[in-house]
Amino acid sequence: MSTRKGLILAGGTGSRLWPITLGLSKQLIPIYDKPMIYYPLSVLMLTGIREIGIITTPHDQAQFQSLLGDGSQWGVQITWLVQPKPDGLAQAYLIAEEFLDGGPSAMVLGDNIFFGHGLPELLASADAQSAGGTVFGYHVADPERYGVVGMDAEGRVTEIVEKPQVAPSNYAVTGLYFLDGSAPERAREIKPSPRGELEIVTLLESYLTEGALTVEQMGRGYAWLDTGTHGSLLDAGNFVRTLQSRQGMQTGCPEEIAYGAGWIDDAQLTALADRYAKTEYGAYLRGLMAA
Ligand code: DAU
Repeated sequence: MSTRKGLILAGGTGSRLWPITLGLSKQLIPIYDKPMIYYPLSVLMLTGIREIGIITTPHDQAQFQSLLGDGSQWGVQITWLVQPKPDGLAQAYLIAEEFLDGGPSAMVLGDNIFFGHGLPELLASADAQSAGGTVFGYHVADPERYGVVGMDAEGRVTEIVEKPQVAPSNYAVTGLYFLDGSAPERAREIKPSPRGELEIVTLLESYLTEGALTVEQMGRGYAWLDTGTHGSLLDAGNFVRTLQSRQGMQTGCPEEIAYGAGWIDDAQLTALADRYAKTEYGAYLRGLMAA
């Protein structure tokens, strides 16, 4: 069990996916058979985190609540937080300061999807690091669209830049941040960037300059899926569908993680399966008990 608290940042305007996201938050739209937020939530649960703060826009919060409730159906405790305006990813730490109460955290962006055989171990090793921060570098073809790490000749990370015109490497920083209890204090020092946001890369730079940032490689055995465009959203859905139908196993299934961790028992899982009786998802949940 992790001693960290989890954060999911699920606000923003979703403007790159309009008109889909005009009337519905981006993190609620489906990735094949589940709402998008199930996937990042599963990452926190796989880390063993049971206290989770979810940050939404004021107007989308009610819909997230009707989907996820207080988390008790999955043995977790959800605290609902609001970001009035999308003023940047680092603002999450200011909004969550009280919730985090000086402790370490793992924040995941509500639109980031991870898959990989070694994921539980990778998460466990980042979780075990008590001081400083850990982020993950992932090789992509189009680094200009992300936060990117710059490295020296020895492969040591020297800088992290947001959406550079000329990327210093092909390693993007994924939207999963394990930071120690100093994150809110550091976030308070950040001034808005030229685009008016409290930038996550500035927060990470503050750890980096003190030698307190570990950049773990998330190697080629992992999928870090993009949901930023209509095409990549469809690709992500197809990826999940292909994987699940071939393996007969779910990815991003909070019920399965909760049951596997012993946070919910047979009776609770049966009740959840009954609720989805008309779907393959329900049959899958039922099957977990026979397994
Ligand atoms: O996905 C990883 C990338 O996420 C990182 O490589 C970048 O360093 C990081 O800045 C971020 O880049 P994006 O271009 O994806 O950021 P975007 O503004 O799209 O925000 C990411 C998600 O967070 C999105 O679902 C909306 C939400 N969001 C965004 C902002 C700026 C909020 O909830 N609040 C905000 O203030």
